[in-house]
Amino acid sequence: MNNILAPSILSADFLKLGEQIKMVSDAGAKYLHIDVMDGMFVPNISFGIPVINCIKGNTDMVLDVHLMIVEPERYYEKFKAVGAEILTVHLEALKDPSNSLKKIRELGMKPSVSIKPATKAEDVFPYLELVDQVLVMTVEPGAGAQAYIESCTDKIKAVREEITRRGLNVDVQVDGGINEKTIKTVMDAGANVFVMGSSVFNGNPYEQTKKYVDIIK
Ligand code: DX5
Ligand code: ZN
Repeated sequence: MNNILAPSILSADFLKLGEQIKMVSDAGAKYLHIDVMDGMFVPNISFGIPVINCIKGNTDMVLDVHLMIVEPERYYEKFKAVGAEILTVHLEALKDPSNSLKKIRELGMKPSVSIKPATKAEDVFPYLELVDQVLVMTVEPGAGAQAYIESCTDKIKAVREEITRRGLNVDVQVDGGINEKTIKTVMDAGANVFVMGSSVFNGNPYEQTKKYVDIIK
């Protein structure tokens, strides 16, 4: 299983977005994590399609789009059109998860399903065959720079164990509060895709990315 760093641009300096994306890419990050918030599914509003459209074609990194929006199905085609390669949707936002995840695959994107800290690991088990990635949120979605919720460690383990038990090739992504202190914990628990917002962008994005890419090697 490949370990992958996914810097989250939520904590980037938007006036220097192009420059900072190049820095994390040059330093070895393989995914660019893009947090879309609608002020409904989560209290905050971040950014959306026009910003992703500007990034499209300007980086080799995989565009890993994390939708924190209600009724995400309304926008699947639009996210595909602006270059989303992995599309993460929240289980809590889906009326018919199986259909929704199949739709993402049909459109040519990799489906990924996410669960909030209060949602049980077992709740994603029925969908493991339909996804390329499970995102276990390790903070309450909606904002960067929050503290890692310790009780999520067992959930990461439970999801990874079930994936292994079924012999599936599914990535386990973690998002929220990942830093120098918590990265080893989540890696040992079975995560292999690491989203990092403030840990990467609150310092020099190139140096920070390099440091974390080395840690997960
Ligand atoms: C939070 C977002 C995260 C956020 C993580 O809802 O999904 O991707 O950027 O930020 P950090 O790494 O600072 O906790
Ligand atoms: Zn995210």
